[in-house]
Amino acid sequence: VTKLCVLISGNGSNLQAIIDAIAAGRLNAVVSGVISNRPNAYGLERAADAGIEAICLDHTDFDDRASYDAALRAQIEAFGADCVVLAGFMRILTPEFVDAFAGKLVNIHPSLLPKYKGLHTHQRAIDNGDEEHGVSVHFVTPELDGGPVIIQCRVPVFEDDVASDLAERVQEQERRIYPLVLGWFSAGRLSMRDNKAILDEQELPETGYA
Ligand code: GAR
Repeated sequence: VTKLCVLISGNGSNLQAIIDAIAAGRLNAVVSGVISNRPNAYGLERAADAGIEAICLDHTDFDDRASYDAALRAQIEAFGADCVVLAGFMRILTPEFVDAFAGKLVNIHPSLLPKYKGLHTHQRAIDNGDEEHGVSVHFVTPELDGGPVIIQCRVPVFEDDVASDLAERVQEQERRIYPLVLGWFSAGRLSMRDNKAILDEQELPETGYA
């Protein structure tokens, strides 16, 4: 069975959705370990409550990005992970790390990529007067938030929305699509080839599965 290693920095609602999908039999995988870069991440408690091994690798204990990422890589390998799942992991990863897990490293990003790479995506969508916003799950490549999209989900932006309203609407969709994508991966249906996402031997379009 596919072993997932989930990387978090905070609340861990995506981690919870993965745990719940596995418990409900909707996702045939196991979470072999959870790693947080922040000691107070609530997701660490969620993991412990589910009986999952969870550790903190605090980035402030490391001199530089390369040494942090080397320690992170060693810990992921110790968990025996088949797939590395970034779930609100708020750190930029070195190209060396990304290359080591090429095709096995996925991220969820709260925007309709390639729009709004980086931070504060909900506020930026509101500030630009966008009528729709959303979330993307993508393979991670060395280009920040630039890897091939696997799936996107759109949500409306309403006139009186503040960023937290929009975040909530987006996160409801996140909890639905991340377990779905991980199910494809776990079933051997999803891969990355020549910087494209491939599902059931078909190259997915730039906006991912539809
Ligand atoms: C999610 O909305 C995720 O899309 C976002 O952080 C949140 C984490 O929530 N990720 C990024 O912004 C990545 N750049 P969670 O900890 O409750 O899963």
